[in-house]
Amino acid sequence: MLLADTLTRTYRNGTTALKGVSAEFHPGGITAIVGGSGCGKSTLLRLLGGLDQPDEGRVVFDGHPITEPHPDIGIVFQEPRLMPWLTNAGNVEFGLSGLPKAVRRERASAALRRVRLEEVGDRWPKELSGGQAQRVAIARALVAEPLVLLLDEPFSALDSFTRSDLHAHLLDLWRESRMTLILVTHDLDEALTLADRVLVMKPRPGQIAASYDIDLDRPRRRSHPAFDALRDEIAGIIRTTATINGLAA
Ligand SMILES: Nc1ncnc2c1ncn2[C@@H]1O[C@H](COP(=O)(O)OP(=O)(O)O)[C@@H](O)[C@H]1O
Ligand SMILES: [Mg+2]
Repeated sequence: MLLADTLTRTYRNGTTALKGVSAEFHPGGITAIVGGSGCGKSTLLRLLGGLDQPDEGRVVFDGHPITEPHPDIGIVFQEPRLMPWLTNAGNVEFGLSGLPKAVRRERASAALRRVRLEEVGDRWPKELSGGQAQRVAIARALVAEPLVLLLDEPFSALDSFTRSDLHAHLLDLWRESRMTLILVTHDLDEALTLADRVLVMKPRPGQIAASYDIDLDRPRRRSHPAFDALRDEIAGIIRTTATINGLAA
């Protein structure tokens, strides 16, 4: 289990991006973290991934404190961040330093197969569509076979058709692997389509304002009456916390 234990993070400019944030992420769960811009979602994800350290509190993964990136915890960002001087397969292999070349190559093509892109391995990132590039980035995160995948608004730069395609795709990957998924998004439809739990954050300082267990049937249908009701309720929390803090600031 991945555990955020009373995390506080204040940046050098004095911004307290997170204050006393605690959450448990159980194996195989899909948690969406939602909230307006600046409420600390990315900061929380970076701490969970060991890319940054909290000033107070700690991140614990299966009993071990996380103080640096961990091979069992993969991360995907909003932009694919592929290196243009490496082939697509080379970018995926990059997630596997320290193994023999032949092993890296084999595992990279297996990861590209999992995102249904084995045919682009020998080509270059600039030849990919936005959706394909993001799938290669997901393959790069998957190649180390992480138990936890952290995703920071991974689909928000994509058009809505590609986005729903990748939603289905991510759920397929999850069904195959039962990874723990933690998905930051500002898209409430995305959160309610994918997640079994939604954590709603509020800004200044970043804290968890509410948590919802989502037990709607899959595949999720937007037409389900509970879907709209939940979305309106969560949107209301985000709107209210933003306004109150905005007026107080
Ligand atoms: N490196 C940084 N230095 C200073 N302030 C930062 C830094 N990164 C984020 N912040 C501030 O911390 C707060 C939370 O940011 P962030 O975690 O990126 O929020 P979100 O991902 O929800 O938009 C914001 O007020 C943001 O401006
Ligand atoms: Mg962010």
